Amino acid sequence: MRSFIAALAACVLMAPAFADDDPGTAALADVCMGCHGIPGYRNAYPSYRVPKLGGQHAEYIALSLKSYRSGTRSHPTMRAQAADLSDDDIERISAWFANQEAEAEAGIRNGGDPVLGAEKAATCTACHGESGVSLQAMWPNLAGQHEDYIAETLRQYKRGDRQDPVMAGLVLALTEEDIADISAFYATQEGLATVEYDD
Ligand code: HEC
Ligand code: HEC
Repeated sequence: MRSFIAALAACVLMAPAFADDDPGTAALADVCMGCHGIPGYRNAYPSYRVPKLGGQHAEYIALSLKSYRSGTRSHPTMRAQAADLSDDDIERISAWFANQEAEAEAGIRNGGDPVLGAEKAATCTACHGESGVSLQAMWPNLAGQHEDYIAETLRQYKRGDRQDPVMAGLVLALTEEDIADISAFYATQEGLATVEYDD
């Protein structure tokens, strides 16, 4: 049994890593950095901050890009960004963002109460973890994400502008105040970071 596990571990270690230093991938990511590479950059209307991608799971980034491409996420600019990406582009670009070195930091706050939010987030921890570091790669990390982005995306699930069978049911009972407090709690945790170019 032990040698079987050792062999399995070796397979994992030897799996070909994505060439995230590939110049083609960096060129693809360059467009994205115009918004995702600027700390605190805002979506114009409604005004909320562009989500951080540094430290996010590659699998979740890929899932999101496919959701924009298929239309289950409705943000017009991101839909346009994802429209022409192939599955291969999506995999490479997601690995690129997930693998960039960025120091864990808290998100920009917006006025919710993080102490109340910690209590209200009790139903979320089964998937998103005690402090917003999620337990599976398809579930997003929330620790350190910007408060106004988390709040906006929870409202999108409520309105149906963002479709996901799991999250749709979970947001129904949340009031505007709950959304603000829970978002503040996750923003206060150190985690995700804005990927920036070195000067
Ligand atoms: C013009 C600014 C802009 C550009 C360029 C842009 N994005 Fe975005 N991105 C946004 C905004 C705003 C959101 C939040 C949209 C929403 O509310 O769904 C977002 C959301 C995302 C998300 C979802 C993150 C999450 O936590 O769910 C991913 C992944 C993403 N972008 C990746 C990319 C990639 C990859 C590119 C380049 C191919 C790119 N973006 C280019 C503004 C931009
Ligand atoms: C059963 C597992 C599960 C539980 C419990 C859960 N989530 Fe999620 N959550 C998910 C999955 C899966 C996604 C990605 C769905 C998608 O693709 O839109 C997600 C996405 C999110 C996002 C979007 C993150 C981003 O970067 O765009 C937020 C915010 C979020 N959840 C908050 C919560 C909150 C708040 C609760 C508790 C009220 C909660 N979740 C409970 C599984 C869960």
